[in-house]
Amino acid sequence: MAKDFYYFNNREVADHTHKETVTQNLFFTGGNRWKVLRQNLTALFSSAKLKNMFYLIENCAILLDKVIAEDLKSNKSNVIEIKSLLAKYTMDCIGSCAFGVETGTLVRTDTQKNPFTIMGEKIFDVSNFGALKMISRAMWPATFYGLGLKWFNDDIVTFFNKLLKGVFANRSHKQSPRNDFVDFILSWKQNNYLMGDSINNFKTGLKNTITLEVNDDLLVAQCVLFFAAGFETTATTTSFVFYELAKHPKAQARVIEEVSDYFDRHNGKIEYECINEMPYLQACVDETLRLYPVLGVLTREVAESYSLPTGLLLEKGDRIHIPVYHIHHNPYNFPEPDEFRPERFYGEEKKNIKQFSYLPFGEGPRICIGLRFARMPIVAGLLTVLKKYRVELADDMPRNIKFQPKAIVTQAMGGIRLKFLSHQA
Ligand code: HEM
Repeated sequence: MAKDFYYFNNREVADHTHKETVTQNLFFTGGNRWKVLRQNLTALFSSAKLKNMFYLIENCAILLDKVIAEDLKSNKSNVIEIKSLLAKYTMDCIGSCAFGVETGTLVRTDTQKNPFTIMGEKIFDVSNFGALKMISRAMWPATFYGLGLKWFNDDIVTFFNKLLKGVFANRSHKQSPRNDFVDFILSWKQNNYLMGDSINNFKTGLKNTITLEVNDDLLVAQCVLFFAAGFETTATTTSFVFYELAKHPKAQARVIEEVSDYFDRHNGKIEYECINEMPYLQACVDETLRLYPVLGVLTREVAESYSLPTGLLLEKGDRIHIPVYHIHHNPYNFPEPDEFRPERFYGEEKKNIKQFSYLPFGEGPRICIGLRFARMPIVAGLLTVLKKYRVELADDMPRNIKFQPKAIVTQAMGGIRLKFLSHQA
């Protein structure tokens, strides 16, 4: 699929993604629209850009540190539900890095009513109705849209439309020196169209270019995506890392040692280099993503008839579901697959990982565009906590996670509650 990508360039329901604003984004769309968007967004994630924006992540981490200290002071117990706290932190990170706004989600007062928190809940709707919409759209898209239904609530579009207009106005509709996501799309808006390669080039080998009209829907759709993909994935992953470290005190002690050495080398500061400097911590993140891939199943929809080497004919519109969770838990790929063993991703042992057996960020031309960005909030969040505390499972926290069946991403039912124990105590 990665090799003959042209035939598998769509994600799912490709003929219908233009029918609502949010699904016109890079994640959901396919064909020429996907190709042009991908090409135009890639530069946003260069190492130089990420390094330049790291100070914003550092500021959010400083705030996270304060909020944890305040929470522990005001709580009667030392237990924190880490998933929702981290979601506020990562929302702050993506808000400042992508949109140049302070979401204020981490600030303690009235957080439930924070509009970004509300949007996060609406996008990752885990109600019965939300799940029903997600499934019926996937199974009967023509009927779903024929009935005038939409997967994503109109409030989401209105909110991000307003947010973007506000940010554009603040910047007087001119690009700022920040070079962030908003600057990017401001330049798109000024040109009214985007240029890029045709998706057919994957098949023909030619170099045809095409243009894509830029309108408000297209801009808002990317905006929702960056917000949603940016905060939920990183918060979920970081909270699962803490959960596994809480269950594995030896691994945690080793990570804390690495963290302490890191701070000794960097005068107690969290700097961009942190994303490359702690191999065991990174192995813990990688192993967590194996156990809890954020997307448990990846989908590709066949764009044009294709014969597999076995002779099986795949027809346009057929869907292929790649069972990532299953692949990650297959003992053939990872012996004792339910064990948390970061060593699999550490040093020489890492070389044993078979191609296409580890897919937390997907594979091929549609691989996660934010995978390097993601490391920044994850590692900064881990450093912030482990600098001062070690974690243990709260007394009522199960040792095996039950997943939320109605969520689009892998989510723990009931959150993740951990005890925070200060290194000083
Ligand atoms: C731990 C964090 C993350 C995980 C595990 C993750 C995982 C994934 C996966 C599995 C895909 C689908 C890849 C495929 O179909 O082959 C994906 C796509 C995508 N991700 Fe991420 N992601 C993470 C963080 C982020 C962040 C921080 C951003 C943006 C700031 C982001 C933006 C995207 C986008 C735009 C796509 C669509 C790419 C395309 O279809 O061309 N992700 N991600």
